[in-house]
Amino acid sequence: KAKVAILISGRGSNMSALIEAAKAPDYPAEIVGVLSNKAAAPGLDIAASHGIATASLAQSKFPIREMFEDTMTQILESWGTDIVCLAGFMRILDESFVDHWLGRMINIHPSLLPTYKGLHTHERALADGATEHGCSVHFVTPGLDEGPVILQAKVPVLAGDTAATLSARVLVEEHRIYPEALRMLANGMARIPATLH
Ligand code: GAR
Repeated sequence: KAKVAILISGRGSNMSALIEAAKAPDYPAEIVGVLSNKAAAPGLDIAASHGIATASLAQSKFPIREMFEDTMTQILESWGTDIVCLAGFMRILDESFVDHWLGRMINIHPSLLPTYKGLHTHERALADGATEHGCSVHFVTPGLDEGPVILQAKVPVLAGDTAATLSARVLVEEHRIYPEALRMLANGMARIPATLH
């Protein structure tokens, strides 16, 4: 099985979906550790309650930025990590970290990429009067939210939606497609195009 580490910053509901999926005996990946850049991330306690290794690293403790990412890679490698899943990890990663994990690191983003890269995706979809919205799992490449998409799911935007109701509808789909995309990467069905290597 592929060894997977999950990077989080908060709640960890996508992390939980990956942990649950990986419990199936025929799932091609196992979760070996969860790393947060916030010590108070609620997801850390959830991971620990499943007996999964956890670590937290505050960026503020690393005045030299690359040392933060280098330390993350050391921790990930100490877990034997093959694949990194970003799950609500709310920091931009530097290029050397992205290059190190290129083709082996994926992210879940709450929009139908390439629309609404970045933050506040639900608010922006509502402000635009979009009729559909959704989520994407994609390979992480140096450009923010720009890597090749592995899977997407669409939801309708309904009359009376708020950012809260719309994000809740999208989140149901995030929890469905993230484990599926990780399965595809772990069993070799999803690959980053060779031109990006
Ligand atoms: C999720 O909706 C995820 O798509 C989003 O943050 C949320 C984390 O929730 N990610 C981003 O916005 C990345 N820029 P979770 O901690 O419950 O998985």
